[in-house]
Amino acid sequence: MINFDFRNPTQIVFGKDTEMRAGELASEYGKNVLLHYGGGSIKRTGLYDKVTSSLKAAGLTIFELSGVKPNPRVSLVREGIRICKEEKIDLILAVGGGSVIDSAKAIGAGAVYDGDVWDFFTGAATPEGAVPIATILTIPAAGSESSDGSVVTNEEGWLKRAFGTPYVYPVFSILNPELAFTLPTYQVACGTADILAHMIERYFTNVTNVELTDRLLEAGMQNIIIHGPRVLEDPQDYDAWAEVMWTGTIAHNNLLNTGRIGDWGSHDIEHELSGKFDIAHGAGLAIIIPAWMKFVYSHDVQRFAQFAVRVFGVPMNFKDPEQTALEGIYRLEEHFKRMGLAIRLSEVEITEDSFEEMAEKGSAHDTRTMGNFVTLDKKAILAIFKLAE
Ligand code: NZQ
Ligand code: ZN
Repeated sequence: MINFDFRNPTQIVFGKDTEMRAGELASEYGKNVLLHYGGGSIKRTGLYDKVTSSLKAAGLTIFELSGVKPNPRVSLVREGIRICKEEKIDLILAVGGGSVIDSAKAIGAGAVYDGDVWDFFTGAATPEGAVPIATILTIPAAGSESSDGSVVTNEEGWLKRAFGTPYVYPVFSILNPELAFTLPTYQVACGTADILAHMIERYFTNVTNVELTDRLLEAGMQNIIIHGPRVLEDPQDYDAWAEVMWTGTIAHNNLLNTGRIGDWGSHDIEHELSGKFDIAHGAGLAIIIPAWMKFVYSHDVQRFAQFAVRVFGVPMNFKDPEQTALEGIYRLEEHFKRMGLAIRLSEVEITEDSFEEMAEKGSAHDTRTMGNFVTLDKKAILAIFKLAE
């Protein structure tokens, strides 16, 4: 286990009807709230009315910015920054999923910065503060409700990039599993794939003697593999959604990263896919992760065999551990298929002619590598796209 420094400051308020506490919780941060949300699901589900009445009952002044698209755009972030500066916003309340929350985080950090917010995503500047952000989560997926990261797409060049800073940890996140009941089947599949991916990225590490986090990750991965299909079958199953929602938060709040170094190559490759083709992040991961696994498993066959045995219950083949390792990858593909996800690029009509451009962008013209478990250069990224074909 390597040295670590762990702190996650986000207050989690979990359970039925907790969205009704939005006003009470928000009023601790000031009077002016920017309510930030997406394309309209919160109005269709009635959540908008509940949240605004809770905020009003607490005497708060509401400003609004809607229209966040999945794979949130920097242009709307800039609009949010303008509102924050002009209206002296005290708290940004993101009601939605990873896209809305990430947009809110970028607005929060950008609102106390004089330059252009995209500087944070290119590394040209580092955030030195942020307007506080809070969330009401409506889709368990990205884990952004208690992470320090934000992923935003710049329409100029369709670059999807991330930045991280402790300033954008949400101050509180309201998690009511009932809010997920209205999710379309496809978003359920994509969300659970992302949750699983966050644990897979952390699981494949070169750091040894990390038994506690190995075991916690295995439990978390199994929990998603069990409860993902349950919420697909019965979208009103509160208990199953509670498992999925809480696992989604734990999967990405960095507790499971303590003492180890995660990989993140698949995420970086996926961001090239969703940056260029605007597909759902979880959908891209279900395609990239199995291909990445096939490319890297020989680096540590024992760890892949352990994944197969402990997560999927594959019997260990002591004479041929490689066979066990490959069976684990196959079972993961079967899980994604069962959730209704594509596991090949051809299924989503992405063809070889885009591989070179994505590998070129992702590797910054072969000057940047991805991944920690195995370092991926441009050639390796191309090979993974080929395996995903
Ligand atoms: O826009 P609306 O109308 O609200 O519809 C949304 C959206 O179309 C819909 N939706 C959400 N909750 C709903 C609902 N529909 C009905 N009922 C509900 N309760 O779902 C669609 C997808 O929403 P989105 O926020 O895009 O999903 P997700 O949470 O998967 O977020 C994906 C984004 O998060 C980033 C991804 O790259 C992607 O841009 N990530 C952020 C991370 C972070 N900040 O820590 C880490 C992740 O690895 C990831 O990269
Ligand atoms: Zn993710």
